[in-house]
Amino acid sequence: MLAGKKILLGVCGSIAAYKSAYLTRLLVKAGAEVRVVMTPDATSFIGPITLSTLSQYPVLWQFTNDEGATWNNHVELGLWADLMLIAPLTATTLSKMNTGLCDNLLVATYLSAKCPVVVAPAMDLDMYRHPSTQYNLERLQSFGHHIIAAESGELASGLEGQGRLAEPEKIVAWLSNFFSKDLPLSGKKALLTAGPTREPIDPVRYISNHSTGKMGIALAEALLSNGAQVTLVLGPTTETPPADATVIRTETAEDMYKAVKDHFPQSDVFIASAAVADFTPAQPAQHKRKKAEGGNPIALSRTRDILAEMGQQKRAGQFVVGFALETQHALQYGQQKLQEKNLDLIVINTLEDEGAGFGHDTNKVVLLDKDNTTTELALQPKREIAEQIVQHIIQHWHEA
Ligand code: CTP
Repeated sequence: MLAGKKILLGVCGSIAAYKSAYLTRLLVKAGAEVRVVMTPDATSFIGPITLSTLSQYPVLWQFTNDEGATWNNHVELGLWADLMLIAPLTATTLSKMNTGLCDNLLVATYLSAKCPVVVAPAMDLDMYRHPSTQYNLERLQSFGHHIIAAESGELASGLEGQGRLAEPEKIVAWLSNFFSKDLPLSGKKALLTAGPTREPIDPVRYISNHSTGKMGIALAEALLSNGAQVTLVLGPTTETPPADATVIRTETAEDMYKAVKDHFPQSDVFIASAAVADFTPAQPAQHKRKKAEGGNPIALSRTRDILAEMGQQKRAGQFVVGFALETQHALQYGQQKLQEKNLDLIVINTLEDEGAGFGHDTNKVVLLDKDNTTTELALQPKREIAEQIVQHIIQHWHEA
């Protein structure tokens, strides 16, 4: 949900500033672009070099650079951001935000920002509960800003009480939730399979296929950016899944089946994009098979059809999508699969098209609905195909 979001992180002079390193790391890992502005005091608590390394951008804390020869453009920074997060927020900066006392770059940037502002205060418990602090926090809320309340626990002073900076994981979850509100799939749970499976012949060999999982990963990203919570059941691949999806790594068709079975009942949409092996060695050898045994064929047994089973279990309101890879009579075979597996939509690929299918960054597909209408999606990057498939699901959801 944070992928591509521009987060301006303001860090103030509190001992909790050490947590801003981990917070920056988590935000970057979730796909956000992070730029950091510090108060001069904050630089005594954490080195700017730590935050610039983690955010991959220079960190700013002064109005000018190079002994006054260039200035740091707070207006540009303020306009750049999708959201300004001040964490940790100290009593001093809180007070300045209320009065507009603009004596450092962080406050100047705050006053220039047109985006939503979120603050996560951190201070000692008596400072936190002081009427002045509480009054200032209420005033910030009246400006339309959001507050991630301090947590209770042991404080740096040795006292116990409310004042600890909210944990970085909690702040990241808060932001993800904030960005997913009002999106078409907000509150919906999506389950996907992607990538190949590996069916062991013996401890060193397996049966697999050329799938890389790129299409499924692009679909997971499109679902996330439309507000869904995503669980991605991923076969063996070197492709990187989105950081804000829950990823379940699997090897065999049976592993994939078990993971899907556990998550399907709670899911609102299920997309089976994995290239699941239809057959698996009936009895994988415990030890490496020797050439001498080579004359013996490997006995295979059928794997379970994950998609067909979920299609049978489907309840009203659940939307189930399958994929079909065909080399001939694509529409006819696609129609058969749609009916036999009780699907709402099938995405038909053919390997005949240049640039489409396994390993490519582009794809060309035909969407076939339950009522037999077809929609052709021209050759384009898999990310764009994924976005169009997700938009198609959103439009046809009421038919599930
Ligand atoms: N699928 C699955 N579990 C399997 C096999 C396939 O979930 N054991 C899913 C795939 O993820 C895909 C669709 O079913 O969404 C593909 O349909 P399938 O009939 O298995 O395709 P093929 O294996 O190509 O079938 P056929 O050999 O009949 O063309």
